[in-house]
Amino acid sequence: MKDINLLNKSELLENDKNHLWHPFTQMKEWAQTEPLIIVEGEGNYLIDIDGNRYLDGVSSLWANIHGHKRKEINQAISGQLQKISHTTLLGLTHPNAVILAQNISQIAPGNLKWVFYSESGSTAVEIALKMAFQYWQNSGKVKKTGFVCLGEGYHGDTIGAVSVGGIDLFHNIYSPLLFKSYKVPSPYLYCKKHNIPLDNGAEFCADEVKKLLEKHHEKIAAFIIEPLIQGAGGMLPFPPGYLNKVRQYCSQYDVLLIADEVAVGFGHTGTMFACEKENVEPDILCLGKGLTGGYLPLSATLASDKIFDAFWGDYDQLNSFFHGHTFTGNPLACAAALASLDIFGKDQTLKNLPAKINALKEGLDALSKLDFVGDVRQCGLMAGVEIFEDKSRQTPFPLKRRTGHKICLDVRNHGLILRNLGDVIVFMPPLSITCDEITHMIESLEKSIRKICK
Ligand SMILES: Cc1ncc(COP(=O)(O)O)c(C=O)c1O
Repeated sequence: MKDINLLNKSELLENDKNHLWHPFTQMKEWAQTEPLIIVEGEGNYLIDIDGNRYLDGVSSLWANIHGHKRKEINQAISGQLQKISHTTLLGLTHPNAVILAQNISQIAPGNLKWVFYSESGSTAVEIALKMAFQYWQNSGKVKKTGFVCLGEGYHGDTIGAVSVGGIDLFHNIYSPLLFKSYKVPSPYLYCKKHNIPLDNGAEFCADEVKKLLEKHHEKIAAFIIEPLIQGAGGMLPFPPGYLNKVRQYCSQYDVLLIADEVAVGFGHTGTMFACEKENVEPDILCLGKGLTGGYLPLSATLASDKIFDAFWGDYDQLNSFFHGHTFTGNPLACAAALASLDIFGKDQTLKNLPAKINALKEGLDALSKLDFVGDVRQCGLMAGVEIFEDKSRQTPFPLKRRTGHKICLDVRNHGLILRNLGDVIVFMPPLSITCDEITHMIESLEKSIRKICK
């Protein structure tokens, strides 16, 4: 076995290509490129093996909140390391898990008092689906087994999460493995299709939800939704008021609302949680990614008393929630999460966001004037810039051209890391980004669009 510290760059590259299967990656294409090897992070920057610095424009897959190598989070993790790295929540408890559960339930929208931990956004969603299903089984309404979800929705890659996903490219191939779900159209695309301005689209889109619930509510356990903006579907924002209407219809038809805030939670839309923007209280809330400031894998599924109470009983009733992972509520990850929540207060993170959101808006307005930029979409500090071969007709570039991918490779020459979803270039920086860094992101993207699309 080779000592990792002795490997040089070329050996790392060779071993990467020989052994490492990368996620969401066509490995044939990967084999032909020279990947960046990131060895360090500092603030909003990633540093590669040659010492080059790159602004982390996608917050290390939408996870990082306060920047890399924040001493408070690092110290919290190393402090916990001196005590214990892992102990279980099955049959035991530990202080970090307890205090974090209390703190999260205090800041969560509404009265989501109960916190169930796991390790990823996908597992937080699996737990939410099983919880919602069993809630109705335990409550005697055993026919309520179905789920409603949105076209272009994304909730993770495990089988349950894929069953309520709506991105054909990622999800279709697995259809024989999935449970059936009811789909309503992505509100952004539905407005676009019918030429309804987004600002006036809430009623129009929510009507589809109403019709479906009216017809099938006796068979429906829950509606799962990414509040305010669909992320992986292409940064597709909702008409204002849509989320609130969905909440109203779910209540009217006795269907649980699961808010998947794995991507939007922890400030990305401008408020701590996206549901707050429309005064929505979900029955179940999924959190992940930014929960630990993006430092360690930890997620949480929060539930109201109403949900929790349906699982309460004597053991021999067998109505417990029979679910739990080995690393559920890992103490190191909980320590990181506690430190990250502290920083929100200390840095006044949310208070500083409006100026940054505005700087991003101004930059996007400028980008929207470029040839090839056919649509720009923003919700808080999350944005998508959609590239078309023919902007006026919104004709996409051929798939084979890999335009979005090439743009994201090119911005690296300007010291920026971005990722694309097809030909949508995504901005989702850490909340600690500065207005100057936002300007740098916009200017770099502009240069790369001009170069790659011409
Ligand atoms: C809304 C949403 N839910 C769930 C997930 C899955 O999270 P993870 O990749 O941590 O499993 C994601 C990931 O991007 C997401 O955007």
